[in-house]
Amino acid sequence: MQLSLEQQLSALSHEEIPAKSKAEIHRLATILLQKMTLAEKIGQLFQLAPPEANVEGLKWEHAESNASAQLISAGKVGSILSVVDSLTIFKLQKLAVEHSRLGIPLFFAADMIHGCRTGFPINLALACSFDPELIENSCKQIAYEIAHTGLNLTFSPMVDLVRDPRWGRVMESNGEDPYLNSQLAAAYVRGYQQGDFSSNYSVAACCKHFAAYGAIEGGREYNTVDMSERELRQHYLPGYKACAEAEVASFMTSFNIYDGVPATANKFLLRDILRNEWQYQGFTISDYTSSYEMLDHKTAKDEADVALQCILAGLDHEMVSTSYLDNLETLVETGKVSLNLIDEATLRILQFKFQIGLFDNPYKHIYANQEQYMRKPETLRLAHEAALKSVVLLKNEQSILPLKKNGVKIALIGPFADSNQVVGAWGSLAKDAECTSLVAGISALVGNENLMCLPGCAINDHDRSGFAAALELAQQADVVILALGEDQEMSGEAKSRAYLNIPGMQNELAILIKSLAKPLISIIFSGRPLELGWYAEHSDALLQAWFLGNESGNALANLLFGDANPSGKLAMSFPYTVGQIPVYYNQYKTGRPSPTGEYSLFRSSFIDVPNYPLFHFGFGLSYSKFEYKNLEIDKELLIALQQLTVCVEVCNTSGVNGTEVVQLYIECANFSVVRPLRELKAFRRVLVAANSSKIVEFTLTKRDLAYYNIEMKFTPEDRKYVVYVGGSSQAELSVEFSYQSEV
Ligand code: BGC
Repeated sequence: MQLSLEQQLSALSHEEIPAKSKAEIHRLATILLQKMTLAEKIGQLFQLAPPEANVEGLKWEHAESNASAQLISAGKVGSILSVVDSLTIFKLQKLAVEHSRLGIPLFFAADMIHGCRTGFPINLALACSFDPELIENSCKQIAYEIAHTGLNLTFSPMVDLVRDPRWGRVMESNGEDPYLNSQLAAAYVRGYQQGDFSSNYSVAACCKHFAAYGAIEGGREYNTVDMSERELRQHYLPGYKACAEAEVASFMTSFNIYDGVPATANKFLLRDILRNEWQYQGFTISDYTSSYEMLDHKTAKDEADVALQCILAGLDHEMVSTSYLDNLETLVETGKVSLNLIDEATLRILQFKFQIGLFDNPYKHIYANQEQYMRKPETLRLAHEAALKSVVLLKNEQSILPLKKNGVKIALIGPFADSNQVVGAWGSLAKDAECTSLVAGISALVGNENLMCLPGCAINDHDRSGFAAALELAQQADVVILALGEDQEMSGEAKSRAYLNIPGMQNELAILIKSLAKPLISIIFSGRPLELGWYAEHSDALLQAWFLGNESGNALANLLFGDANPSGKLAMSFPYTVGQIPVYYNQYKTGRPSPTGEYSLFRSSFIDVPNYPLFHFGFGLSYSKFEYKNLEIDKELLIALQQLTVCVEVCNTSGVNGTEVVQLYIECANFSVVRPLRELKAFRRVLVAANSSKIVEFTLTKRDLAYYNIEMKFTPEDRKYVVYVGGSSQAELSVEFSYQSEV
């Protein structure tokens, strides 16, 4: 008797597949390649987003007449985008394996960026933890969930360096610093892939968007990027390079141009840097129709020209658009593209499929009842820890926080007071309904006897009708907590903003509440740095909560009432106002610096706003008080391959245990090119017990001093360097040493 599809799905085997050596994978892929027709090879270079699957599940019974099914059966599809339910994935995979001539399995990919079914904090929030280990562990759990949805690859990490909060995609990033970005980038890859993505519990990762997408002009989505090669190499490339070094499975190109050439057909990026300089072995994939967009960039005359330029530049796999599928065959037949180029790209896709083990078991990640593998206690525990570590305490006058658990009447006001819409953009399979709201978190922790809650207004409309009731509530309270921000849909892809205010009537509501002169705690929910000047001035405490995912309310409650101590540090500067943008800590030195950062005639400054941001990179407070002293180095002259040891004493002068992110920056004088004011070179999270201190040790080598010099050589020069160590990018303790390359 024929088993139903559901029964077949339930009977799938998930035996672990032994990992194969690179040589074996290459051998197997080469043998298969020899059996393939040109059309089949080109088929492997195409990623399909089946509209039927997205809309209502593939119509299996009509498979014969279904366009996607026909393509798959004809061996003209290499992978599938954004199908996330096991049964549909199973159906599609069966088509490929049982109906196509060579039975080459598909791979399945989707965007699981900050969680899969369990919602973790958005990536910019996670970056504020300055905790690569947390990110690696979280990604292991996320990979476990992804690997049980039928997917083989996640389009993460996004490692575009960002300096412009108008761009909605800053929420996906690791912020503004190349070193932090690189450390976290590698942690994501290690967590997802776990060294060996042939395992049943790991998935392949994709580093995106190559390259420099974060530098789009004016923060306007899909806009132009233009920068010097030195700037590209020094600041923008390290995050991607860290992924390549961690052997990330794939690289996605970006929508922008670099040096006048769309990234998807950019030979300098894809061949010269990625393949030749970095010796990257994985495959490259375009972003969603980014290849076709060359027609709008007006750098390709037709789709055949798109295909030609992309394959010559080194693009292996085309996402959604079909320039390869429709044109490569003719391009080969007319001698415009050599068969070698097709073979090279196809081989990479086949090798990838062998590497994940899809030829051993094409159904390895497909499970019946996938839900039972989701939201496991350990995953939720990590999501909670991640949320605690992502929140940044920006102000805490007279230690108003933490709040006492008893006897304090709290008015919780604002559109985020009782909202569970805190998954954040790119929420994957996480559900708002499973996120704890702030009010639920607080009630669960301290009960609701002294807790009153009202929205006061919506996030983004002009309705003031809720003001009066909110004001009345606030009047009865001992302390007011304002929970405000931008809607989770206001950041993410295609969500650029020209204004960075808290939208709607929320500021008016805040001003009104402030007029009661009650102690005021402001909590800001957002996917990007917003203008928080008023809140910094008028709140007694200010917390940046981002979007924290499933554990949002619980984590915030723990922090508010002191069951947890804030330890997050900003991964991105917060401007006073949009007009300062870009404002970031590692700006270049100018010829006319303002000595104070304030206005100064004929100095690089503004007449109406300081040069520095409202809150700078690396800044974040704790309920503990940290002081730094005894910054020492073990030598004043560092020669060639020696190591420099830097020690500092971190004292916790408070009665509360706390974790501090100790940060080390360098500054270099008289280099052959202008360097940034400061550059982060090391950081460490250190738990320091109440009223005690800890010695923290860092080592620096010549690599940490190196920079792309006047000859575009990445090298330290024989100069004086200053080391700063402290709790933010404005660390004050410093010590000097010199570097000498020859003994
Ligand atoms: C985004 C990518 C994403 C892709 C697939 C594009 O619009 O830019 O980051 O991976 O869609 O969903």
